[in-house]
Amino acid sequence: MRIVVTGGCGFIGSNYVLRRLRTTEDEVVNLDKLTDVSNRANLAEIEADPRYTFLQGDIADREAARRALEGAEAVVNFAAESHVDRSITDAGAFYKTNVEGTLVLLEESLRAGVRRFVQISTDEVYGSLGAEGSFHEELPLRPNSPYAASKGGADLLVRSFVKTHGLSATITRCCNNYGPFQFPEKLIPLMIIRALGDSPLPVYGDGSNVRDWIHVKDHCRAVDLALEKGAPGEIYNIGARSEMPNLGIVKTLLRHLGKPETLLRFVEDRPGHDWRYSIDPTKIERDLGWRPERSLEEGLEDTVRWYLDRRDWWEAIMNRPAWRAYFSAMYDERLAGARTTPR
Ligand code: NAD
Ligand code: TYD
Repeated sequence: MRIVVTGGCGFIGSNYVLRRLRTTEDEVVNLDKLTDVSNRANLAEIEADPRYTFLQGDIADREAARRALEGAEAVVNFAAESHVDRSITDAGAFYKTNVEGTLVLLEESLRAGVRRFVQISTDEVYGSLGAEGSFHEELPLRPNSPYAASKGGADLLVRSFVKTHGLSATITRCCNNYGPFQFPEKLIPLMIIRALGDSPLPVYGDGSNVRDWIHVKDHCRAVDLALEKGAPGEIYNIGARSEMPNLGIVKTLLRHLGKPETLLRFVEDRPGHDWRYSIDPTKIERDLGWRPERSLEEGLEDTVRWYLDRRDWWEAIMNRPAWRAYFSAMYDERLAGARTTPR
């Protein structure tokens, strides 16, 4: 079948496009705007594959969406502004892509008569947890960041297109991903790359915030199941029952890298910083038969090895003027006021 993957030049989208071409006979159309965090090079190995088409375009641009959707049977919508920190200073971009862009894709998918639509959402729409409990699919949406709010808005639009127009759409809500091709603005690659350069590692607050981690390849397998077997209108949480406080993650990375904990710096916290995420994946395990294949410990070790092997990949990013400007705006002041022990 012909499938449109949006945001295929980002972290998870790249892994998904590679998987889809490897494991199916599908034709894959990748619609990606190529924002500052994207990387066409992630897909260099399949650029010449006759089953693969790249279209540079914005999901919020109706003409671009229409062109991409011609003859398509399925859509998997990964395209998004995805970084909480950026959403604090530029919420408008998140609204435009994540809400308006999803609406345009939904309308154009209906028009094109697509048979399946999968919306890639996030556990962050549920808000933050205390020490107990986990997110399940029936919880109300309580987003705390503009990023999470925009993803929640998109989820509600998807739901309305199922109920009102009968679109066969399914929503997945996954926890924090890690693995190959993750852009270094996110915690794990940022810490690996900084540690390799013996540079200070900016841990927000006291490092006690807990995230629930999953290897990107386990996520991509779950998305395929949601696409192929997911019921219309259903929401599936995706998570590997692998919670860890941020400080635990960073210390594990330092151990794999053979670098000292003296690199740790405790910096000013993120405003509205969600304290804990925890996914209950019972529904996707029970209804779609999904199970994660990688433990956090082995997944982190493999990921460290990937960043060691792919210096070319991240050094090219470090040399981009947009990256330097971003890092400086986000961290210069924070690192200047950093402490070597938690606040
Ligand atoms: P990413 O930021 O690495 O990649 C996003 C991609 O979307 C980029 O290639 C970018 O160019 C593209 N894009 C952005 N705006 C676009 C637009 N208007 N039109 C077309 N393309 C556009 O993101 P990611 O980490 O790969 O996340 C992918 C999806 O998964 C997102 O929807 C995100 O909300 C969701 N998600 C991510 C995580 C995570 O831990 N990274 C966890 C749960 C859910
Ligand atoms: P991030 O990778 O931005 O994902 P999200 O905010 O979507 O969970 O951050 C993961 C956690 O790591 C989050 O609690 C914030 C924290 N963090 C730091 O402590 N320092 C950093 O430099 C970054 C980017 C994140």
